[in-house]
Amino acid sequence: MSKVSDNTLQTLPRHVAVVMDGNGRWANKRHLPRAAGHKAGVNATRKIVENCAKNRIAALTIFAFSSENWNRPKSEVSSLMSLFVSTLTGEVKKLHKKNVRVRFIGERLRFSEKLQKSIAECEALTEDNTGLKLNIAANYGGRWDIVNACRSLISSMQDSATDTDAASLDVQSIDEQLFGSFLSLSDTPEPDLLIRTGGEQRISNFLIWQLAYAELYFVDTLWPDFSDQDFSDALDWFAGRQRRFGKTGQQIQQEQATAAIE
Ligand code: IPE
Ligand code: IPE
Ligand code: MG
Repeated sequence: MSKVSDNTLQTLPRHVAVVMDGNGRWANKRHLPRAAGHKAGVNATRKIVENCAKNRIAALTIFAFSSENWNRPKSEVSSLMSLFVSTLTGEVKKLHKKNVRVRFIGERLRFSEKLQKSIAECEALTEDNTGLKLNIAANYGGRWDIVNACRSLISSMQDSATDTDAASLDVQSIDEQLFGSFLSLSDTPEPDLLIRTGGEQRISNFLIWQLAYAELYFVDTLWPDFSDQDFSDALDWFAGRQRRFGKTGQQIQQEQATAAIE
């Protein structure tokens, strides 16, 4: 594993999100079926998980299958589903040993019973782990997440209207914090850094609410080729960003100077 610089270590993101893109092109370049690209992508995923765990990054959220990926040819979808089952079965014990807590986000009911069972077992086995929080977005879409949050919020409001013991929830009490608490990953700090491999510069319906203030890092490297060095480069780039959250650069510099004195 390549070493991150001292400067980078001080400014590591707490939460990294990754759009693992480019598996198909990686395979095409080698005249291999697309499924071979997805399989090769698993190795890159294993590496970044280990890297985040070692560097004490609190959370990693990876985009494994979007709600739109069902539109791919049937044969590709089915090879991806088989790969998910075999990868989960093969990796779960190793992840548990590394103290990684695994959770899935997305609509899982559309998956086969076998895959749903693997997902549930993986979550249950690792649930009390205190190391890296690994979130796997599978059949996930940011728009689905928002609509799902609306449904949950409205049903809580209906419950609170009929249940006198429940905390009162009315239209006026809806604010960004309350709404956000119904979204996926609401118990995790928002992603600080989004990495997308494969050269496309778009979000593709990933965490559209949660990425509001993430730093966006796009790299041409295809996912199966994404190395520890590529990840270190992304972390170094992130360490050089000034995050302003609406303030001026001068305000941020003053805040940093004050914090350094205290
Ligand atoms: C990302 O790689 C993996 C999934 C979407 C499952 P792609 O399969 O999108 O690879 P390209 O973009 O076609 O190269
Ligand atoms: C996004 O990649 C989804 C995943 C990486 C799982 P896509 O390859 O599906 O995105 P688009 O279609 O090029 O935007
Ligand atoms: Mg793609």
